[in-house]
Amino acid sequence: TEHQSPIIAIDGPAGSGKSSVSKEVARRRGYGYLDTGAGYRGLSWHLRESGIDTTDADAVIDALGGFELRLGLHPDDRTVTVGGIDVTGEIRTPEVTAAIAGFVRVPEVRAYLNAIYRRLAGESGLDGVVIEGRDITSVVAPDAPVRILMTASPEVRAKRRGLELGADTATVAAAINARDESDSHVLDLAQADPGVDVVDSTDLDFEQTIDAVLAVIDRKLSGT
Ligand code: DC
Repeated sequence: TEHQSPIIAIDGPAGSGKSSVSKEVARRRGYGYLDTGAGYRGLSWHLRESGIDTTDADAVIDALGGFELRLGLHPDDRTVTVGGIDVTGEIRTPEVTAAIAGFVRVPEVRAYLNAIYRRLAGESGLDGVVIEGRDITSVVAPDAPVRILMTASPEVRAKRRGLELGADTATVAAAINARDESDSHVLDLAQADPGVDVVDSTDLDFEQTIDAVLAVIDRKLSGT
C-alpha cells in the first residue's frame, strides 16, 4: 500500500511500558524513534536553567524563542541537547519532571513542540518512525496509518516504575497518580478513538507486548 515511511503513533500513561516497547519495535523494524516527552522535559530543564517561572505562561511562551532543542531519532541514541548542552540525563530528574505540569497545558507550548515533532517525523532518510507520547494518536499524527494506545492496570504500572526507579510501590503509585492527573488533558484513557488499537499489557511480559504491537503494525500496514 501507500505507506512508504509510515508513522507509528503510540500513546500511553506513565508506566505503561510505552517507551521500552516503542524503542524495541523501532529497532526490530529499522524505524526511527521519537520520544516526545523528551521535548517537554528539555523545555522544563531550559526554563529552570534560565530562572524562568515554569508556571508563568507568558514567560514560558517568551522563552520558546531561545529554546534550541535537538532530539536523537535513533532508538539507541536518546541524546537530547538544549542550546548545544547534553541534558540527556538531567531531563529525567524528579525536579525537571515535576515542573512540566506548570506549562504542559499552555496551547502555544504544545503547538511549538508539535511543529518540531511533525517536522522531525517528515525528515527524509527514515524507513518509518515510531512516535511516542500522550497526544500522538489524537493531535500530533491523527492520520498515522498505525495508532496504538498502550495501557496496563495501575498496580502493574506502579510495579514496573518501581523496578525502574528503585523506589517502593506506594511512593511510585502516588507519583503515577499525580502524573495521570496532570496528563489527563491530553490522554483520556477512558475515551480511546475507535481507530486506535488498544494494547493492554497487564497480563503480558515484554516479549508478548512487543509481539502484540508488531501484530497491530503488520495488520494496519498490510491494510487488512
Ligand atoms: O513520556 P514522559 O514521561 O517523558 O513525558 C513527560 C511529561 O511530558 C508527561 O508528564 C506529560 C508530558 N507530555 C505531554 O504532555 N505530551 C506528550 N506528547 C508527551 C509528554
